[in-house]
Amino acid sequence: MAVPDDGPSRTSTKDAPLLDDRTDPVPGIDLARPELHRTIDLHAVFTDLRRDHPVFWHGPKSHAGFWSVTRHADTVRVYRDTDTFSATHGMTLDTLRPELDPGAGMMVEVTDPPEHRRLRRSIGAFFSAGAVSTMAPAIDDLVVRLLTDIRDRDEPVDFVRAVASRIPTHVAGLLLGLPPEDLDWITSRTSQVFLAGADASRAATADLREQAAQANAELLGYFSKLVRASRRRRSDVRGLVQRLAEGTGDREGLNTAEVILNSLNLAIAGTQTTRSSLSNMMLALIQFPDAFQALRKDPTLVPTAVEEAVRWANPVRHLARVATRDVELGGARIRAGDPVVVWPFSANRDEAVFRLPHVFDIRRYPNPHIGFATGTHSCPGSGLARAQMRTTLTRLVELFADADLADAPQLVQSNFLLGYERLPVRYTAAASVPRLSAQATDGDRPGADFATRDAPNGSSRTTEGM
Ligand code: HEM
Repeated sequence: MAVPDDGPSRTSTKDAPLLDDRTDPVPGIDLARPELHRTIDLHAVFTDLRRDHPVFWHGPKSHAGFWSVTRHADTVRVYRDTDTFSATHGMTLDTLRPELDPGAGMMVEVTDPPEHRRLRRSIGAFFSAGAVSTMAPAIDDLVVRLLTDIRDRDEPVDFVRAVASRIPTHVAGLLLGLPPEDLDWITSRTSQVFLAGADASRAATADLREQAAQANAELLGYFSKLVRASRRRRSDVRGLVQRLAEGTGDREGLNTAEVILNSLNLAIAGTQTTRSSLSNMMLALIQFPDAFQALRKDPTLVPTAVEEAVRWANPVRHLARVATRDVELGGARIRAGDPVVVWPFSANRDEAVFRLPHVFDIRRYPNPHIGFATGTHSCPGSGLARAQMRTTLTRLVELFADADLADAPQLVQSNFLLGYERLPVRYTAAASVPRLSAQATDGDRPGADFATRDAPNGSSRTTEGM
């Protein structure tokens, strides 16, 4: 991949769209088509778009037309200005609709303020730094178990199956209070919701969309039963589902439909993104062996490496909004009712914000990536996701001396998720493993935000080339 040497300032907006210009600058490229994201390196395309068409009209192709936002600053503006850019019409290209989303006003992700505040307050307590710390020992136990199993088997493994899909589902089970025997079924359904079915390479997009709708309906039925059962009888399991269900009589609490929808939302939002982040991080370590070795020598680099992994291969490619009023953004005139799609996949490689954005730099600091969004809808699960990624990375570099691809990785077929369906890896065990029974080095501060805090290892330096 070419490394553009532009400095941090924006240089050219030549050919930027004129106000009201709805000429599609990429008529031959359909950014909404899931297959495209699997077959082309879109970073080169987005580099050109950020320079020449920061906000442009993507004409109707596989999906209805929408404004496309490619730069970091404009994306942040869309995230933060919820009065102008509403989330109530669906959050992805596949669920976006002219009318309100059926979950609007009830499900946190598709609800705008002021209603959003009540919903977010109800689930927020489950994500406090204290709540995440409580889960840290269980996360560490699981990670150690999965990785020592790989080491002991001493043969190539599919990292997605063996590790990346198992950790987030287990953690979502703990958080939500899901019966362990249901977790495999939940994993299989949540992985279909973003058109990421196991046989995605063979299935047509329309079939995948049908499968996604079906999986969503099945999950809704599952959570509906679980919540209603939790309301009827007090259970020994004390997860989010049970505690929210018991609060449904309370005027400040969520009603039954809201508990069901938000539990479903958490199960989907928490598992697929984290699974993708873990597999993307593993692949980055294979592609940049110097980074792997640097982390082995100095595990205090783990927190900044995790932030860089999220920036470098942002699991959320895009998010959707609808304009509530006429507004100018990045030189384009957006009309009330127009769909607006931000591409954090592109924003996190914006050369106006990140020096050498295409370099994977595990010491990058500060790292103001927006992989977890920002503003009203910013990810409440970021602390939990970081805890899973840091623990996995800490244990990986402790247990293994090296890792290599055993076969070609297979990307998920999705316009929304950037992650892998298969990631075959061959590991070389470390000669000695010093601290296996101890907590992961970052376990005491799993929610700390190293994207913006003081750097633990001095300032950002780029050591890993392409
Ligand atoms: C690396 C893993 C993760 C990434 C990259 C990620 C990313 C994001 C992003 C970009 C948003 C903003 C959506 C929007 O603006 O429309 C979001 C929201 C959300 N995330 Fe995450 N997430 C991750 C893990 C988790 C986990 C572990 C949970 C919970 C268990 C979770 C629960 C949620 C919820 C409930 C929202 C909606 C918040 C709201 O609308 O107020 N996420 N996430």
